[in-house]
Amino acid sequence: MDATVKQINELKALLREHNHNYYVLEAPTISDAEYDQLLRSLQNLENSHPELITPDSPTQRVGAAPLAQFRTVKHRVPMLSLQNAFSEEELLAFDKRIKDRLNTIDAIEYVCEPKFDGVSISLSYENGILTQAATRGDGETGENITQNAKTIGAIPLQLLGNEIPANLEVRGEVYIPQAAFEEYNRQASARGEKVFVNPRNAASGSLRQLDASITAKRPLQIFCYAIASIEGNGISMPAKQSDVLHKLKQWGFRVNSEIKVVTDISGCLAYYQAILARRNELPYEIDGVVYKVNDLEAQAALGEISRAPRWAIAHKFPAQEEITEVLDIEFQVGRTGALTPVARLKPVFVGGVTISNATLHNIEEIERKDIRVGDTVVVKRAGDVIPKVVTVLLEKRLPYTTAVKLPRHCPVCGSEIVKADSEVVARCSGGLYCKAQQRESIKHYVSKSALDIDGLGPKVIELLLDASLIKDVTDLYSLTEEAAANLERMGEKSAQNLIGSINKSKNTILARFLYGLGIREVGIAAARNLAAHFGTLDALIEADVDELQAISDIGPVVALHIATFFQQSHNLELIEKLRKLGVHWPEHSGQQLAQGALAGKSFVLTGTLATLSRDEAADKLRALGAKISSSVSAKTNYVVVGDNPGSKLVKARKLGVTILNEQELINLLGTIV
Ligand code: IVH
Repeated sequence: MDATVKQINELKALLREHNHNYYVLEAPTISDAEYDQLLRSLQNLENSHPELITPDSPTQRVGAAPLAQFRTVKHRVPMLSLQNAFSEEELLAFDKRIKDRLNTIDAIEYVCEPKFDGVSISLSYENGILTQAATRGDGETGENITQNAKTIGAIPLQLLGNEIPANLEVRGEVYIPQAAFEEYNRQASARGEKVFVNPRNAASGSLRQLDASITAKRPLQIFCYAIASIEGNGISMPAKQSDVLHKLKQWGFRVNSEIKVVTDISGCLAYYQAILARRNELPYEIDGVVYKVNDLEAQAALGEISRAPRWAIAHKFPAQEEITEVLDIEFQVGRTGALTPVARLKPVFVGGVTISNATLHNIEEIERKDIRVGDTVVVKRAGDVIPKVVTVLLEKRLPYTTAVKLPRHCPVCGSEIVKADSEVVARCSGGLYCKAQQRESIKHYVSKSALDIDGLGPKVIELLLDASLIKDVTDLYSLTEEAAANLERMGEKSAQNLIGSINKSKNTILARFLYGLGIREVGIAAARNLAAHFGTLDALIEADVDELQAISDIGPVVALHIATFFQQSHNLELIEKLRKLGVHWPEHSGQQLAQGALAGKSFVLTGTLATLSRDEAADKLRALGAKISSSVSAKTNYVVVGDNPGSKLVKARKLGVTILNEQELINLLGTIV
């Protein structure tokens, strides 16, 4: 029996450590299969000895019976809310109030944290074991959601380390990462289920399920940021908020990595700007930042007023969602003829800019959300993402509005609109006869990932088309400086630059050229795979559907699009014409990915490189078979670091990934080529 207890305890400790590596440090050291194996071993032992199951066992994260209702719990320490500041003046007034109250003229040290847009939670530990998790509720009493909280991998069931207080209460924010939210909604929608409006609602709904096995299926995460109370075993509250965060990490809680200590209020403002600029790069939603007086003694002296601490303030970001009206719904024609409905909106200031259009994606989306002309709607703009209509406020709908129908003819060229029943997308059947498709395919050919022609923006393309100087991409290469210089607002110098970049684009690589052709559903990643696999354009043109499908990431639909594209004589003629005009790329005998000197090696590029652009560096690495990834993980082999690198460098150091500077990268490329 003792041997069994020992074995169980060892397995628990091992699982606890791997769980922490995976969910909190996000740097797993074993595979999912190995983890499952360990968990199964523990489960088997516990099945034979049920009396040895403890509530903190990693097997106890799921499996509780559904509840009829939540029990309410009274918080030992109330869960407060935060005062808000929307401007610099309000923030300076906050700093002044604090100095006045503390009777000091010295600069106040603050901890700056993101304000996570999730649901707050309180976690209670007795002698290091999680005993209760509760929602905020009205701040005084909340709901007991212990079973649900246990399903969140990043919440420790047992604290790590030796300094364990008898009683500990920790506060944090449960949220759903942006990408996981989108994926969840995509799958829910495919199953015909209701989708969530935003990650915050999704987190809140998921945490308040009576059946914890439903919560377990939701991609919940947590950041912890406060100790509400601590006592016993000679362990007392740290002196500063920054120490609190450090302590939380040591106990195994997940603490956000963007948190900074600043020496005065101007540091808070700089932090606000820096985080705001990166708001949409962060993998979770935030609606502002929070500043907290770092010194806990000063916090205690400041106290609270109307359920909010005087020592903290939320500095809110501009809202990303606003309410406005749909003035009209129009259909735009894309490169492949796809019709995209666009809502013309009453202009509204949202996410820091005024918007007057929002994409409605496709006709089915309009039907699903029942969006009509004249409706009052919630629109969202997050960073550079195209604004979209989130939902209709049905209670504001006026009588006699009618639903929008798919047009029968192309609004640009009048050709018939076709839509297969199995597809959501409706298309103009005009092909390159349609002016819109002409324009869009040229835009695509010159875009950054394709032939990357500088100075050929949408406006210039429009002017060239209107002046009948071009009809398709081949005409670009016959364009003269004189003709370009005659265009509206185009001086001699810009005309010269434009022709220069058009000529420069003749020297390209196969992947970019393939992508530039605009074959349906062939993105830049697929184009790279095709180029690496075939090595020459002719080999690709001759490939049949079976051969195409055998390539990684090329499914039956894409394979068919590719084969169909190369069967059409007008496409082959266009390619031939471009080659005759001098567009060329290096070719090789194929299978480059497998043979490449860097095959299987994964690279991350960060910061600004001096002699070559990140795109060029990535192209060169890929040509040698390397994989380029956007985030650093334990599987990354090299991180290439330029000027002003971000958190990726920090993460690389933490994980012990090999770091290369620009010269070392060039040396590496040089020794291989
Ligand atoms: S401190 C005692 N820190 O914002 C002060 N709260 O509007 C309150 N929140 O209920 C907690 N990120 O749910 C704090 N870094 C952060 C936060 C944060 C998000 C939430 C929390 C709180 C609400 C107040």
